Amino acid sequence: MTKRTPVIAGNWKMHNTLAESAALIEALKTAGNKNNAEVIVAPSFTSLAKVAELAKGSHIQVSCQDVHWEDKGAFTSAVSPVQAKDAGATLTILGHSERRSVFGDTDEILNKKVAAALRHGLTIIFCVGETLQEREANETIAVINAQLENGLKGYTAEELKGLIIAYEPVWAIGTGKTATPDQAQEVHAAIRQFLADKYGQEYADATRILYGGSVKDSNVDEIMAQPDVDGALVGGQALLADKFARIINFN
Ligand code: 13P
Repeated sequence: MTKRTPVIAGNWKMHNTLAESAALIEALKTAGNKNNAEVIVAPSFTSLAKVAELAKGSHIQVSCQDVHWEDKGAFTSAVSPVQAKDAGATLTILGHSERRSVFGDTDEILNKKVAAALRHGLTIIFCVGETLQEREANETIAVINAQLENGLKGYTAEELKGLIIAYEPVWAIGTGKTATPDQAQEVHAAIRQFLADKYGQEYADATRILYGGSVKDSNVDEIMAQPDVDGALVGGQALLADKFARIINFN
């Protein structure tokens, strides 16, 4: 089976001024990377170019948090994949639960954003996850399979090569409530099975599936120990250089 390189990604969400972003990326550049993980930060658009400039030549890659599906046009406040790339992003997060629930990104919209990111060669970190209500109704796997099915619709394994998936249970985001390692493993294994059924075993074995939702320096080791957990997508603790450094250097 393919050995998967771990991915540790920090989603800065709507945090950090330019000065704060610069200080954080500078600190992370010297934080070590003992697992040879792919380390990614996703600053807000105002900090993207600055962070990309400062990260140049380091082991840290820069992602944006979303892109619009068009390359340009009359879409006030939106940012296109062309602009994101121009500012230095090589990846984009798509389908974050805050985009889905606060800004109304549907599976159909996300499918268009996937198209836009693929068109411009941005590596996608595609987020999926269930609400507490859906979990309690035993709908977790069905909800996630539908998010994957509809969001990625129309593309082959070859076209989706390199795609990263992030499982972020909505009830664990920013709540301090983490899925237990067993809960994370169960869903990650189901996602890998979905990928195997749809795109083949080779694709499933090669695809990195990250866990996100209150990942901390104190719980990252046990989460990363799960066989189908290939990395973490971190919110709150990604803003704290020492905490995120510990997460990058998980045991
Ligand atoms: P927290 O780590 O703050 O729970 O956020 C997780 C997240 O949404 C990362 O994208």
